[in-house]
Amino acid sequence: MRKPVPALTVFLLISFFASAQATKPAPRTAYYPVPVTAAREPNPVKSTPESIAEGKKIYSYDCASCHGTTGDAKTDVAKELKIPDLSDPAVLKDRTDGALFYILKNGHGDMPREGDRVKPEQLWDLVNYVRSLARKPPSAEPKPSN
Ligand code: HEC
Repeated sequence: MRKPVPALTVFLLISFFASAQATKPAPRTAYYPVPVTAAREPNPVKSTPESIAEGKKIYSYDCASCHGTTGDAKTDVAKELKIPDLSDPAVLKDRTDGALFYILKNGHGDMPREGDRVKPEQLWDLVNYVRSLARKPPSAEPKPSN
């Protein structure tokens, strides 16, 4: 016959696992993984003013309601859904264009997918537009030469 496991041991084990769960850091919304092959997909559409203008058009009816006209996530729904600020250059700096394309096409969490609603070329225009929302970081300013 097996000896019964002492209640204290059980209690300690449970509280150990419970506290391990509780101390796990909350997931960062911005950095869930995208399949590597998708992330490596090169952007075939040059970020020309025409492409950005086309992306802006789609953004204004499919995206601005959640993300805000300038992408700065100041809308009520943005606060509620914890939508990232796309005008903050830090937010998308580690995302490739291919990764953004994948996210826009497939959606993520509370963000709906564009799916086949728009043509792939238009999705790349959207990627180019989203990139253009980022405020220029101060380090992008030319350094004084001396
Ligand atoms: C219903 C509201 C909603 C709409 C509409 C919406 N989004 Fe989002 N978006 C979100 C939410 C919520 C997140 C955060 C998702 C997450 O991290 O799981 C997000 C995240 C993003 C991100 C960051 C992705 C990352 O993690 O790197 C980008 C870029 C983005 N959205 C662009 C767009 C574009 C472009 C459109 C229009 C085609 C759009 N969104 C439409 C709610 C929305």
